[in-house]
Amino acid sequence: MRPEIRTELPGPKAKEVLERDSKYVSPAYTRSYPFVMDKGQGAWVWDIDGNKFLDMTAGIAVTNTGHAHPEVVKAVKEQAEKFLHMAGADFYYENQTLLAEKLAEIAPGAKNRRVFFANSGTEANEAALKLARYHTKRPIYLAFYKAFHGRSFGSLSLTASKAVQRRYYAPMVPQVVHVPFPDPYRPPFGIHPDKLTDTILDFLENTVFKTVAPPEDVAAFIIEPVQGEGGYVVPPADFYPRLYEILKKYDILFIDDEVQAGMGRTGRMFAIEHFGVIPDVITVAKGIASGLPLGAAIAKTSLMNWEPGSHSSTFGGNPVAIAASLKTIELLENGLIENAAKMGEKLKNGLKELQERFEFIGDVRGLGLMLGVDIVKDRETKEPDGKLRDKIVYKCYEKGLLTLGAGESVVRWSPPLVINEEEVSVALEIFEDVLKSI
Ligand SMILES: Cc1ncc(COP(=O)(O)O)c(C=O)c1O
Repeated sequence: MRPEIRTELPGPKAKEVLERDSKYVSPAYTRSYPFVMDKGQGAWVWDIDGNKFLDMTAGIAVTNTGHAHPEVVKAVKEQAEKFLHMAGADFYYENQTLLAEKLAEIAPGAKNRRVFFANSGTEANEAALKLARYHTKRPIYLAFYKAFHGRSFGSLSLTASKAVQRRYYAPMVPQVVHVPFPDPYRPPFGIHPDKLTDTILDFLENTVFKTVAPPEDVAAFIIEPVQGEGGYVVPPADFYPRLYEILKKYDILFIDDEVQAGMGRTGRMFAIEHFGVIPDVITVAKGIASGLPLGAAIAKTSLMNWEPGSHSSTFGGNPVAIAASLKTIELLENGLIENAAKMGEKLKNGLKELQERFEFIGDVRGLGLMLGVDIVKDRETKEPDGKLRDKIVYKCYEKGLLTLGAGESVVRWSPPLVINEEEVSVALEIFEDVLKSI
């Protein structure tokens, strides 16, 4: 199967939607190209003019089981016919209990976990952040520069990805301190890559803790196992284990934001498993329910000890989303995680080959099917080339391949985990054609 582009892009029907959209839909949205969805199946999507595209975005790392997986759709339909809502915060339904039990079972570490259900990534993080203060009675949060944790005020205060996301929204939630992230490709302050872990952790203990954030006042450090919106950046292998050790010394909680990297995407159920750390709290959303809105904060049982009424959500844990999630996790466990690891390796190798041939590809990085291609002006200086990246993403669209940007200059590859070898090859061929045309 190959993409089929039959009309000019955008096509006539798409153009009509775009015109009305520009009048009525919020202009805060960041659309990179005018793809107007009609339907999807697996890794393929069709626009409303009948053009067919290969999707390397999964709707920003969400449809991990592929678009409209028949078994997920069946689970959704069956639940929808029974009931759509009953407020799991005020009543009980069996599937909510089952999903909490399942998440407790698959979370790294022992089974003693409790789950708070939300509707999105930012809400899952709000729950984790509130729980951290509630439990520790401490005020300060630590997070990384370039981190993305969401857009509501609590999580936005920890987000430090792009200025546009924070501009004019001050004041933020107070008592947040940011620390440089150990990016091996563009190390902060020119630190030698071999010294990244040592230097950043030394800065944390000997500068941050001794000046602005006394450790006995710090509730939690929230991290992304692989920075997502920041540009798909993987820290050195020893970084999180050593950070965890330091945090434990001061009883600071380790919150692992798996909203983008989790649910099988990196070839493990949770990306933190690559680093061998057992987080105090894990937050998930995006890929957890194949496209239905659901988020969760999974915390150690002893930690999630807040009293009734201290946090809640009307829609969090919606029964239809939960039905989709139970089926999604079953599919992930029965082959899709393994496939993500296998296809991720094939895709990464293909992209690395292209890197050898195209000077403007500075770096190819990532885990499983969470891969980034960093576009640079100069390989020596590694100066990001955001404009060229945007051009590449647009040209891919014109050739029937949907990708998205991440960070300043990265082409993001986050396809559905059902992608097969042939589809990976087709994606690489189209990408190569685009690179040749630049
Ligand atoms: C790591 C991470 N955390 C949180 C969020 C926020 O999720 P949502 O958009 O569902 O609120 C995102 C979204 O991109 C994310 O990548």
